[in-house]
Amino acid sequence: MAKVTVVGAGFVGSTTALRILQRGLADVCLIDVVEGLPQGLALDLNQSAPIERFEVACTGTNDYRDTAGSHLAIITAGFPRGPGMSRMDLLAKNAAVVTDVTKKLAEHSPGAVIIVVTNPLDEMTYLTAEVSGFPKSRVMGMAGVLDSARLAAFIAAELGVSPLAVEAMTLGSHGEQMVPLARQATVDGKPLTELVSPETLDKLYKRTQNAGAEIVGLLKKGSAYYAPSSAAAKMANAILGDTKEVMPVSAWTSGEYGVSDTYLGVPARLGRRGVEEIVTLDLEPAELDQLRAAAAAIKARCEDLGSL
Ligand code: APR
Repeated sequence: MAKVTVVGAGFVGSTTALRILQRGLADVCLIDVVEGLPQGLALDLNQSAPIERFEVACTGTNDYRDTAGSHLAIITAGFPRGPGMSRMDLLAKNAAVVTDVTKKLAEHSPGAVIIVVTNPLDEMTYLTAEVSGFPKSRVMGMAGVLDSARLAAFIAAELGVSPLAVEAMTLGSHGEQMVPLARQATVDGKPLTELVSPETLDKLYKRTQNAGAEIVGLLKKGSAYYAPSSAAAKMANAILGDTKEVMPVSAWTSGEYGVSDTYLGVPARLGRRGVEEIVTLDLEPAELDQLRAAAAAIKARCEDLGSL
């Protein structure tokens, strides 16, 4: 049975563990700095197995030796955004946490694929790749699957259709420089651009770009976790099952879309070895410009990371 380590037993980590277990994807090792927290959650999760009908199991621990030999690690440790806090405010705080956990993870599971969920996403993904020393194809960030799902959910609500009828894709960075792709958005196969006015399209895009902050504002403390954990589990399924599905993830670029040497949200084929290919879509010139601007901004912030 495959083994997944989820680092951080907070809201995102525990719901990610739940989704992986309920789908029967892998045994899960849940690790946190807080003593008792992952152990208690693991007991609770395992006690749902006879009802939810899964045969995989969760181990809760504070000791990285228990994570050894993981095929996949999902990093959710760190602090969530508070109201009015940007993802960038989190940078310095979470950089220290991510550096610490990555060193320990890499030591015990040198062959793992790593999915980073901790924000600010693209920068924490870069940091994880640097600290682990892993090939960049084995380190990726979770953002595009979540952002695309948020856009699809807003489109479905706007048009009063099933979320299952909607396809949508966003690239770029996780946050203000997200790039929703107009031509990739369809409802029952029909282009969204033919179904709504440009103003409605713009409203849907803006709400998607602000979707994380909208939830933070309502929750008052903490940030989203149901949809983020669904997105992480979808990526885990593709990697563990070696499905070769294409989905938007924060991946290391090497010339695709005219962008190099930075993590950026792009469509990637996922399999056992991590990012197996970056897929080049035919983008509008304006979308390409936005994507390159997002890449430049991520690169600059990653350079700032070095001075922290
Ligand atoms: N090692 C392991 N776990 C840690 C460490 C560490 N060095 N530092 C903090 N943690 C744990 C905390 O103890 C806590 O249980 O990370 C967990 C974070 O959980 P929450 O505070 O509930 O935050 P959550 O909502 O899960 O978000 C975590 O995911 O989506 C992103 O922006 C979000 O960066 C945030 C991260």
